Amino acid sequence: MEEKIFLLYTDNPAQTKRLGAFLGEAGRSGIVVCLEGELGAGKTTLTQGMAAFLHCNSASSPTFNLMNVYEGDVSIYHFDLYRLNSEDDLYEIGFYEYVQENGEIIIIEWPDRFSDALPEDNLYIRMCEQKDGRRKITVTLNGMKYQKQYEELKYLCQSLR
Ligand SMILES: Nc1ncnc2c1ncn2[C@@H]1O[C@H](COP(=O)(O)OP(=O)(O)O)[C@@H](O)[C@H]1O
Ligand SMILES: [Mg+2]
Repeated sequence: MEEKIFLLYTDNPAQTKRLGAFLGEAGRSGIVVCLEGELGAGKTTLTQGMAAFLHCNSASSPTFNLMNVYEGDVSIYHFDLYRLNSEDDLYEIGFYEYVQENGEIIIIEWPDRFSDALPEDNLYIRMCEQKDGRRKITVTLNGMKYQKQYEELKYLCQSLR
């Protein structure tokens, strides 16, 4: 089977936010999103764009919490695995129950820290700052559960510029 992946660039924070809104639109019936990228890549900006689009109370960096919940048109469960010490801690924060997505949007930041623990079905987003300041963003579909959401996001992203 061919790999489902597409690539785009955002030129400024507003475009990164718009991408977040598109993700909220495509994923509003429930989705698991892995969000990988170094500090400053634009992960929080993207999440803020999504939260605003879905009328969720404003998202902030979850660095000091392992999970934040944002309530709005849809619930967003935002995990940050950066500060997690061991995979065992995932049980304690209820990670495995939450990621059995049931109509919510699940965002997993720093998914590469515990890649064995990730749900097989997910939309995997990698953000990377380029030398010219733009963000290079790849979106990969893992599993088939979110194929429809993937296709819708890809379609919406055509109007990003
Ligand atoms: N496409 C972009 N081009 C330039 N700057 C961007 C872009 N997307 C986001 N930024 C800016 O990069 C900075 C870091 O973004 P942030 O979302 O806090 O990163 P992270 O959460 O990944 O650490 C912010 O000032 C944000 O406005
Ligand atoms: Mg951040």
